Amino acid sequence: MAILTLLDPVRKEIKNPADIKIFMNNRGIIFEQWHASMPLQDTDSQETILKAYEHELGPYMKKNGYVNADVINVHQDTPNVEAIRMKFLSEHTHAEDEVRFFVDGEGFFYFHLEDRMEVFKLLCEKGDFISVPKGFTHWFDLAPRYFVKAIRIFQTPEGWVANYTNSGKEQKYNL
Ligand SMILES: [Fe+2]
Repeated sequence: MAILTLLDPVRKEIKNPADIKIFMNNRGIIFEQWHASMPLQDTDSQETILKAYEHELGPYMKKNGYVNADVINVHQDTPNVEAIRMKFLSEHTHAEDEVRFFVDGEGFFYFHLEDRMEVFKLLCEKGDFISVPKGFTHWFDLAPRYFVKAIRIFQTPEGWVANYTNSGKEQKYNL
């Protein structure tokens, strides 16, 4: 179950999925809860994980022009987890929407909406589907569990890259 924590300017926790959805949708972020009940192993290949959820993501991809998908699979035997964590941990934007479907484990999306002067974080867990609009400043944290399986989908074959803001904003909030 997702948990939304407002960090600035007010501090508040929201656990009701319907309220989280309204909060995120009001800001242009798609948040939904899908079914994620396929049994997966840490050792499963990217292809196996993609295949297991093709029935969920395939129709969404076709309808919305997504052409490529990959998998983030981090678990206790993954080498260099801290280096992987650091890749996502600085505030950045993308030139296209960032879409993730969490099929196991967890991770925190942090959002910094400058026009609203808001910072909030969303704990994403198994079954959570999120689409962050292009240009939104955000970062992502694998800690403290360092255990996540999430499918990412892309509108271009090469996928997006992170454009770092170098604001240092994340340092106030990260673990
Ligand atoms: Fe991102």
